[in-house]
Order: sequence, then C-alpha cells, then structure tokens
Amino acid sequence: MASLCVFLGLVTLSHAYENVALNKPAYQLHPYNTEEQYDASNGVDGLKTNFSNFGGQCVLSANNKYTATWWVNLTSIYNIYNITIFYRTDNVPWQPTNGYRARFLGFSLYVSNTTDRLDGKLCFKDTNFNLTTIPPIFNTTCLLRGQYVIYYNERKGVGENPIGYDPYAFNELCEVEVFG
Ligand SMILES: *[C@@H]1O[C@H](CO)[C@@H](O)[C@H](O)[C@H]1NC(C)=O
Ligand SMILES: *[C@@H]1O[C@H](CO)[C@@H](O)[C@H](O)[C@H]1NC(C)=O
Ligand SMILES: *[C@@H]1O[C@H](CO)[C@@H](O)[C@H](O)[C@H]1NC(C)=O
Ligand SMILES: *[C@@H]1O[C@H](CO)[C@@H](O)[C@H](O)[C@H]1NC(C)=O
Ligand SMILES: *[C@@H]1O[C@H](CO)[C@@H](O)[C@H](O)[C@H]1NC(C)=O
Ligand SMILES: *[C@@H]1O[C@H](CO)[C@@H](O)[C@H](O)[C@H]1NC(C)=O
Repeated sequence: MASLCVFLGLVTLSHAYENVALNKPAYQLHPYNTEEQYDASNGVDGLKTNFSNFGGQCVLSANNKYTATWWVNLTSIYNIYNITIFYRTDNVPWQPTNGYRARFLGFSLYVSNTTDRLDGKLCFKDTNFNLTTIPPIFNTTCLLRGQYVIYYNERKGVGENPIGYDPYAFNELCEVEVFG
C-alpha cells in the first residue's frame, strides 16, 4: 500500500507544471550593449525583485529599433501551459504616465521549434491593451508544443503607430516564465 502511494505521488509530481524556461539559453536580436546587466539571460534568471534597468535582472534592447525579438531555448520540446511576463517598470508606480507601458503595447508571443517566429505558432498578440489597461505582469494560457518561446514587438516609427504606442520597439523583459 505504501509503495502504491509513493508510486501515485511520483506520477502526480511528474505531471506537475514547472517553469521550463528557468536558466535556459536566451538571446535577443538588438542588445542594448554587451554588458551582462542587460543581457538576454536576465529574462530567465529567476530574479524578479528589481524591475529597474540598473538592477541587473532585466533584458534591455537597443534604442531606435523598429523590431524587438527575444527568445528562450527550452532545449527540448515541451507542452506549454501558460506564460507570465514581468515587464520593466523601473520600480516606479505602473500608472499611465509610466513610459514603459507605451513600449510593452502591441507585443506578441510565439512558440516555435526554430528560432524563427514565423516557423512557429502565435500564442498571444496584443491588440486590445492601451496605456490604461496594460498590466506590468502579464499572464496568458498558451497550450502549444515547441522548443522556443519568442517575444516579438514591432513599430513603424514616429506618428505611424496606434495611439499610445512608443515609436520604437523594445525588449524590456525582467522575467519570462514558461510553465510546461
Ligand atoms: C501557470 O501555471 C502554473 C502551473 O499550473 C501555476 O502555478 C500558475 O499559477 C499559472 N499562472 C497563472 C498566472 O495562472
Ligand atoms: C534596484 O537595483 C538598483 C541598482 O543596484 C538599486 O539602486 C535599487 O535600489 C534597486 N531597487 C530595488 C527595488 O531593489
Ligand atoms: C537549443 O538547445 C539545444 C539543446 O541544448 C541545442 O542543441 C540547440 O543548438 C540550441 N539552439 C540554438 C539556436 O542555440
Ligand atoms: C514542434 O514539433 C513537435 C514534434 O514534431 C510538434 O508536435 C509541434 O506541434 C511543433 N510545434 C510547432 C509550434 O510547430
Ligand atoms: C482603454 O481601454 C479601456 C477598455 O477597453 C477603455 O475603457 C479606455 O477608454 C481605453 N483608454 C484609452 C486611453 O484609450
Ligand atoms: C499574473 O499573475 C501574477 C501571479 O503570478 C499576478 O501577480 C498578476 O497580477 C497577474 N496579472 C494579471 C494581469 O492578472
């Protein structure tokens, strides 16, 4: 009986979801610079206590770009269940005047088996949030199977984007959790 209980316990555990992105290899297309403080790996370092660019826990991409791409390599194919993004706030209140809201708007999440989002499937694309409604911690259920989770945003330049959007595209990701 005891061994049956242990067996059932193990079966339950082996089906529990965990953050399969934690400490996995990560990459971004246009890094802010080469300093570790802003590295793509900060998005999966498990640290989410300091949401400032100086805290060394967030990914930062370069200024004045029209596309922003970041991905994590889960290193094998997983059944994904949900994804949480902790966005940069600079540790100041997340009010409509917080400039990072304008950068977050319009983002997409893809799950792919390659580093190319276009080879994969769209998990989420923001078309509804605005400066008032976008949250600093975003959650979505995403029942897809794949090896790479890709964050993507794009902009068309000054005056060419929906109201409230920053003119440029950024990765400002403090943590991306992928439960699978
Ligand atoms: C995502 O799934 C995990 C595992 O089931 C759960 O612990 C977590 O609360 C979920 N996240 C959200 C935001 O629902
Ligand atoms: C975040 O890190 C910066 C740089 O180390 C520090 O000045 C600031 O106090 C930290 N903020 C929080 C909320 O931990
Ligand atoms: C992703 O991880 C796998 C397993 O470690 C590795 O074989 C593959 O080359 C990695 N992909 C990239 C693009 O680095
Ligand atoms: C990735 O490959 C697996 C195994 O072939 C497949 O089941 C899955 O649908 C693929 N995922 C995507 C996003 O194409
Ligand atoms: C943002 O969206 C909400 C809900 O759809 C709406 O009530 C609000 O007026 C919008 N705010 C702006 C600034 O567009
Ligand atoms: C997402 O989930 C986290 C807990 O993991 C929670 O703190 C946050 O408020 C949630 N965000 C939204 C928009 O519900």
